[in-house]
Amino acid sequence: MKNFTTLSRKETQELAMLFAETLHSKTFLCLDGNLGGGKTTFAQGILTFFEAEPPYTSPTFSLIKEYPLPREKNGISYIYHIDAYRIASPDILSLGWEEIIEKPQSLILLEWPENVSEYIPKTALFLTFSHPQNPHDKDTRIITLPNNLPPDTVSTTNALSQHHLE
Ligand SMILES: Nc1ncnc2c1ncn2[C@@H]1O[C@H](COP(=O)(O)OP(=O)(O)OP(=O)(O)O)[C@@H](O)[C@H]1O
Ligand SMILES: [Mg+2]
Repeated sequence: MKNFTTLSRKETQELAMLFAETLHSKTFLCLDGNLGGGKTTFAQGILTFFEAEPPYTSPTFSLIKEYPLPREKNGISYIYHIDAYRIASPDILSLGWEEIIEKPQSLILLEWPENVSEYIPKTALFLTFSHPQNPHDKDTRIITLPNNLPPDTVSTTNALSQHHLE
C-alpha cells in the first residue's frame, strides 16, 4: 500500500486516471473512507480514463450506475459504480449484485463497502480516502492505493506526493 496526497479535486482525478491504467477486468475496488473523502471524485477519474459516457453522477440515490463502455479497454467493457451508503445488507442482493460481480469484463467501484461487507469478494482491493481535520487543509486528501502502479505511474505520482508532503 502506498499513500498519496492530493490538494484538489483535479489532482485526485489525475491520480485516479493513472491508477486506472493498471486495472483489468473482473476487478472489484472498494473505495473506503468518510463523507467527502473523495471516493466519488476518484471514481470519476477512473470513468474518464475508460471513456465512459458522461455524466458521471454519484449513485447516491440510484445506488448502482452501469456504464457500458463505447470500446473495451484493458479487457473492461462495463463499469459499475455502486454507492452502498443507503443500502443495508442483504438488500444489495435484490439489486442484481450477484450478476454484476460474476460478469466477465466488468470493473466494480463500490463506495461504503462496510455496509455490505459480507457480500464483497475476497479478491477485492481496498483503497482508502481520508482528510485531515485541520481547517487549513480543507482540500487535502490522503489516498492509499494498492502497490501495483506501473513504474512510470509511480514516478509521476511520487513526484506529485513528494511535492506535497512536508
Ligand atoms: N483533494 C481533493 N480530492 C477530492 N475532493 C476534494 C479535494 N479537495 C476538496 N475536495 C472536495 O471534497 C468533496 C469530495 O466529494 P466526493 O463526493 O468525491 O466524496 P465522497 O467520498 O464520495 O463522499 P460521500 O461519502 O458523501 O459519497 C468535493 O466537494 C470536492 O470538491
Ligand atoms: Mg460518494
